[in-house]
Amino acid sequence: MNIRGTRITGWGVALPDRVVTNADFEARIDTSDQWITERTGIKERRFGGTTASLAAEAGIRAIKSANLIPEDIDLLVLSTTTPDLTTPATSSLVQNLIGTKGGAFDLNAACAGFVYGLVAASGMIKMGSNKVLLIGSDTLSRITDQDDRSTAILFADGAGAIVLEVDSGTDNILAYDLGVDGSAAPILYCNLGDYMKMEGREVFKRAVRVMVDSSNNVLEKANLTNDDIALMVPHQANIRIIEAANQRLGIPIERTAVVLDRTGNTSSASIPLALADAAESGRLKEGDNILFCGFGAGMTWSSAIVKWTIR
Ligand code: UT7
Repeated sequence: MNIRGTRITGWGVALPDRVVTNADFEARIDTSDQWITERTGIKERRFGGTTASLAAEAGIRAIKSANLIPEDIDLLVLSTTTPDLTTPATSSLVQNLIGTKGGAFDLNAACAGFVYGLVAASGMIKMGSNKVLLIGSDTLSRITDQDDRSTAILFADGAGAIVLEVDSGTDNILAYDLGVDGSAAPILYCNLGDYMKMEGREVFKRAVRVMVDSSNNVLEKANLTNDDIALMVPHQANIRIIEAANQRLGIPIERTAVVLDRTGNTSSASIPLALADAAESGRLKEGDNILFCGFGAGMTWSSAIVKWTIR
């Protein structure tokens, strides 16, 4: 049977040049490197750029790594919760910077957005798209009150991208799970023109719960167990959230991708940044099962198990 499956064929990232360390915060607000490190795992993060500029940089790198040129791309999907403009969509600006063909649209499911985008892209590949550029890009520093110690130390800027191509032999997206509980919107939100407001402890508790439930859901759907997962790529919000969820899932930290110590929480960019780091450090081999798991404002969550197809 001729199926229109999906496979990942390339990746790319972009981080702004400006490094902001815990010591930089220590010098300015009532916090300490020790508190930030122990409570979050973050040591430094990057500030700068626009959502479109970072997205384009990551996207161009991903296209190159897939051995393609921009004109080969027939769909651009941009996951972001920090668009540069109210309208048009930031994906229009990115299309103009990269030169992709076909359609382009933004998707906002907060920090769960990248995996929502993966699922949307693979659905559109089934409907006829051949080469999709999926980008997660966010500039959270712009909507974070840099004097509020409960959020300033967490949120940062960055972008990550992957190329997805049709695979007529097999579908490498083995299972997915998307969810939202809109009644929890008030625990993490940002009014237009304002800064983010967050009930950190409540987000923490719910994050662990949805990561575990959603991951177990996709494992069951794919008929796999935790031992079949070569690498877990979770949303990079707080190392304690990742450790708590992974302990319950029975996936050790050695099989988990972590970059938040260097990037902070970059929302839509966090999963592709962690994936690229793992790929570049030789942690992935062809045929590995990767478990992606995101959660964010909404409250949204998303998981997917994807077979790595790059040699
Ligand atoms: O993409 C999803 C987005 N968000 C998240 O995933 C965030 C989830 N939540 C978290 O990561 C954690 O809840 C935080 C890192 C935000 C906070 O850590 P916590 O261990 O839950 O701390 P807490 O909010 O319970 O606060 C403990 C204490 C408080 O002081 P008191 O009331 O005990 O005197 C805070 O005022 O820590 C204080 N505190 C800080 N102290 C030094 C809060 N932020 C800071 C800080 N530096 N930056």
